[in-house]
Amino acid sequence: MSQPQDISNLSQSFSNAVAISTSPVNNFSPGSPYGQSIYPGRHTKVLKPFSTGDIKILLLENVNTTAIEIFNKQGYQVEFLKTSLPEEELIEKIKDVHAIGIRSKTNLNKRILEHAKNLIVIGCFCIGTNQVDLEYAAKKGIAVFNSPFSNSRSVAELVIAEIITLARQLGDRSIEMHTGTWNKVSSKCWEIRGKTLGIIGYGHIGSQLSVLAEAFGMNVIYYDTLMIMALGTAKQVPTLEALLRQADFVTLHVPELPETKNMISTNEFNCMKDGSYLINASRGTVIDIPALVEARKSGKIAGAALDVYPNEPAKNGVGLFSDNLNSWTTDLTQLGNIILSPHIGGSTEEAQSAIGIEVGSAVSKYINEGSSVGAVNFPEVSLRSLTLDDNDRARVLYVHKNVPGVLKTVNEIFAEHNIEKQYSESRGEIAYLMADISNVSVSQLKELYDSLQQTPFHIVTRLLY
Ligand SMILES: NC(=O)c1ccc[n+]([C@@H]2O[C@H](COP(=O)([O-])OP(=O)(O)OC[C@H]3O[C@@H](n4cnc5c(N)ncnc54)[C@H](O)[C@@H]3O)[C@@H](O)[C@H]2O)c1
Repeated sequence: MSQPQDISNLSQSFSNAVAISTSPVNNFSPGSPYGQSIYPGRHTKVLKPFSTGDIKILLLENVNTTAIEIFNKQGYQVEFLKTSLPEEELIEKIKDVHAIGIRSKTNLNKRILEHAKNLIVIGCFCIGTNQVDLEYAAKKGIAVFNSPFSNSRSVAELVIAEIITLARQLGDRSIEMHTGTWNKVSSKCWEIRGKTLGIIGYGHIGSQLSVLAEAFGMNVIYYDTLMIMALGTAKQVPTLEALLRQADFVTLHVPELPETKNMISTNEFNCMKDGSYLINASRGTVIDIPALVEARKSGKIAGAALDVYPNEPAKNGVGLFSDNLNSWTTDLTQLGNIILSPHIGGSTEEAQSAIGIEVGSAVSKYINEGSSVGAVNFPEVSLRSLTLDDNDRARVLYVHKNVPGVLKTVNEIFAEHNIEKQYSESRGEIAYLMADISNVSVSQLKELYDSLQQTPFHIVTRLLY
């Protein structure tokens, strides 16, 4: 499959070029950990850790039961807590464990990680990884996994709900009814069938939304800096302006980047159709909200739905969404047909369950097979699973400093054996080597392990056999 192309400079012959594009990929991979693979291969060999002993895993912050089931099936010793832990308690607990699962409230900073003598992997059962010192973790040879895409469908469904809610002024009617007002109107209320949805950012969420919107009879156009194959009969347009000029509903699904900051501001509102609608469930910085307030006041746009904001409260509570947090709050909340939700786009039971499976599987696969595919701070390396026929083989997992001369030293250590497969990848100051070597007896494992550990570049060495 061809790589995505940068289309920012493409000419008007754009529509002819779509054939070379690629579809968005689904990164979800349930993995095949040893013992109880989710999708076991018939001949997959169950690898045992030589160097780690029994795996202990600490799960904090009530991570989803789907993850606990995965870890229990592996035979790990699982300690599960519903809350996060105070720093000193966490330091005590982290000393022992090989893996830890957290959500957004547990801060794994350098001070805490310094005490994590056995830790090889961190699972963030959430989208973000800001709560972890990723660089320090990598230097200690600790791989970090998260789940960036498990809630794409949930966000896409919320946006569909918002499109209909805006088109029918449903939010305003509901608020009126709550205060005793009966206001049966049809003026400026629309069906969404036959209307044009403009999707900015056709990634995991944008492309899901595209399919759902077409099922409602909408025409879908999208703008993305990459050339991406359209799903259904959606059409990619070459510029943001082209999208804004055609769309009845504009929805943003881009990452937070310097180039997406305020990507919808006064000029862009001026390009939008009169009476169109704007939806943002991506990141709070992508819309210039004072410009949105002006566009709504003037009637240029007929409504907007926002799920994300430049500043968001750190916890739930009354009175927290105020001018103290964002200076324009009062101006925004006084406008009609503005739907505001508290960053709940991805907040569903299904998304939580999918996060548990995705991160649980990635963590298990790293522990059991060494695969670091999907790690956010670590070189991504994988070798295919060993089979039952591979009975005299050992898998070497060697995290080391990224300096010259490592492979020469390591291959000298491997010299007595046969290297069946070897794959090494670096990222910044660290590198990760996976090798399957044959002609290894169990009695030779200790010598092999000790030799690798004594190399000057060694960070973490593990052997599976
Ligand atoms: N509201 C929520 O609860 C919630 C939940 C999940 C994700 N999100 C946010 O939604 C956004 C999209 O998530 P995703 O999983 O679809 O991401 P993704 O990485 O799969 O897709 C993003 C797309 O935007 C495109 N893009 C990047 N810069 C662009 C630009 N300047 N102009 C046009 N297109 C551009 C990329 O090429 C990519 O195709 C992210 O900001 C994410 O943080 C919000």
